[in-house]
Amino acid sequence: MASSKTTTTAARAAELRDILNSALIAYHVEDEPIMEDAAYDALFDELVALEEEHPELVAPDSPTQRVGAPASERFRKTRHLSPMGSLDKVTTDEAVAKWADDVRKRLGREGESVAYVLEPKIDGLAINLTYRDGVLEQGATRGDGVEGEDVTANLRTIRAIPLAMAGDRPAGTVEVRGEVYMPLSGFNALNERLVAEDKKPTPNPRNAAAGSLRQKDSTITASRPLSFWAYSIGVHEGVELAGQWETLAWLREHGFPTNPFAERVESVEEVVERCVTWEKRRAELDYEIDGIVIKVDAYAQQERLGALHGRPRWSRAFKWAPLTAVTRLKQIMIRVGRTGALNPWALLEPVEVGGVTVSRATLHNEEDINRKGIRVGDDVIVQRAGDVIPQVVGPAGPHRRGTKEFRMPSHCPLCGTEIVKPEGEAMHRCPNRACPSRGLETLIAWVEGPADIDGVGEQTVRTLWDKGLARSLADLYRLRKEQLLELDGFGEISATNAIEQIEASRQQVPFSRVLLGLNISGIGWVLAQNLARHFLNVDALIAATPDEIAEVEGFGADRAEAVAEWFADEDNRALVEELRGLGLRFEAGEEERPREGPLTGSTYVITGTLERFSRDDAQARLEALGAKVTNSVSAKTTGLVVGEEPGASKLTKAQKAEVPILSESALLALLGES
Ligand code: IVH
Repeated sequence: MASSKTTTTAARAAELRDILNSALIAYHVEDEPIMEDAAYDALFDELVALEEEHPELVAPDSPTQRVGAPASERFRKTRHLSPMGSLDKVTTDEAVAKWADDVRKRLGREGESVAYVLEPKIDGLAINLTYRDGVLEQGATRGDGVEGEDVTANLRTIRAIPLAMAGDRPAGTVEVRGEVYMPLSGFNALNERLVAEDKKPTPNPRNAAAGSLRQKDSTITASRPLSFWAYSIGVHEGVELAGQWETLAWLREHGFPTNPFAERVESVEEVVERCVTWEKRRAELDYEIDGIVIKVDAYAQQERLGALHGRPRWSRAFKWAPLTAVTRLKQIMIRVGRTGALNPWALLEPVEVGGVTVSRATLHNEEDINRKGIRVGDDVIVQRAGDVIPQVVGPAGPHRRGTKEFRMPSHCPLCGTEIVKPEGEAMHRCPNRACPSRGLETLIAWVEGPADIDGVGEQTVRTLWDKGLARSLADLYRLRKEQLLELDGFGEISATNAIEQIEASRQQVPFSRVLLGLNISGIGWVLAQNLARHFLNVDALIAATPDEIAEVEGFGADRAEAVAEWFADEDNRALVEELRGLGLRFEAGEEERPREGPLTGSTYVITGTLERFSRDDAQARLEALGAKVTNSVSAKTTGLVVGEEPGASKLTKAQKAEVPILSESALLALLGES
């Protein structure tokens, strides 16, 4: 006889299973998490403890049954209840239109409308899940479409795959099909881990997903960041559905994640338009898609169209060019950056990647190159993701031609100075602060970043540099049109245009951006702005001590020291004078000055966490009323605003200097919001 205690334990276990399974669905299917990870973990642990004490309570759909079991020696072959076809592909707009035409002809009824469902074509691997009375019984790879491998234990570890269907569980057998894939973030993390463990990285997310799913030890699969999207059903006893669009809704209702970007459209024009839009948006996703799957929506129409050699006439895969390719690594070149860092890059045998010819790709640093086993002469995998510079992922296979490990040069390729590698840093550096590379890179950064001069790009700057026409920012502002006209690629119009834009930038680039363009190590957009706002002109900045610079929001002692050092350097000061003489702005403009307001002239410091605002928010509000907000307390500070867990040193300093201390409510009153 079951005691009431076991009954309640059983009830609690069932409740925990329900909560945890709902949480997984909320996360994977609805993309609306209903609990924090920590809460999930706590409830999960409670269920584990319950099941350990009462093994009879372990249900097949318990989320604890996803952890994986150790090796079985070989995957059992298994026959799908209904075959898994494959798709014919099309690669052009015309081919899509021609296919749609053929579909209409075959359907043959004048005026019959055809709707299409479009789904991203996930680059992973197709699997077949068999549910019996709503509970996952078996999961298999596609294999040859008729017979696959039974990888149930591995599939059970994937949290996006429901172990039991949500909602009403259909009696009988249902096959659910979809794609197992590895998100890009997980793929990158996995490769970093593999490399750190001295193992070979996986060449692409698809291989990574396939490899993870074919692990003999499912605890390894469990550790891999795999996910799943359902896109169709095979055998489906007791389930009535009219088409693909309805099927996707049915899948979601039963706890299966479906891709959120699936769409139903009613014309071929829209189909083509979506295929083009999606190719552009491809790079924004955290998973790889290699095209769009187009399906005729209505099952009745699908049946009339039928299939040819297992490839349905009612569907096509619109495929884009792949984002990875294999090519020969001809040479490893070195570029010395504007901070002196030596950046290796790959010179490649030109190859098409995602529709663009690529002949250069980035490499990280010496250690990374050798860890991955990349050698000159090897065939390597090149990957392009969106607009970013292509990367060399690793060697393409075990057959290597390259014989030598890569070594950074011992001397700077540009100035000959001996290269250093600071302790604990991955990058090699040229320590020569007068190294020409720094000047060149500073110039390139200037026209592309702070000054944003459209008519002069990297290539022009390189040419100007090579011809000796511009070796510093100051040179750029002395350029004449005739000098540009002598360069390849410049005509009357483009030269006039470029000079006009350089001219405009002379007066228009605000002080903070000029500071940014000076290329002071560690100073980015935000810090340059804070410096400009705080000191208001370059003379005040030149006169400032490191301690005074450290008062600026965002600065610590090291950065402050670096800034002071930069301005203490004679050559740098000469450059500032030269640029000032040429008309560049070294004084804060209107937008960089504290606003006039009731708090003008006062200076506040904020420490600790505030309840009502973020720190930036509080700073912005104080500044809007004319106050300055700085980083460190001094006798000049008007007040120290103290939140939760304030910094001890700021508090002590304020007490010593008798600086008033403000609570959050006092701050609210000050802002007129109490
Ligand atoms: S439907 C009859 N839908 O593309 C085949 N496939 O050859 C029906 N794929 O093996 C497949 N995303 O691995 C379908 N939304 C999607 C898909 C998709 C990716 C893969 C799948 C299949 C291959 C087509």
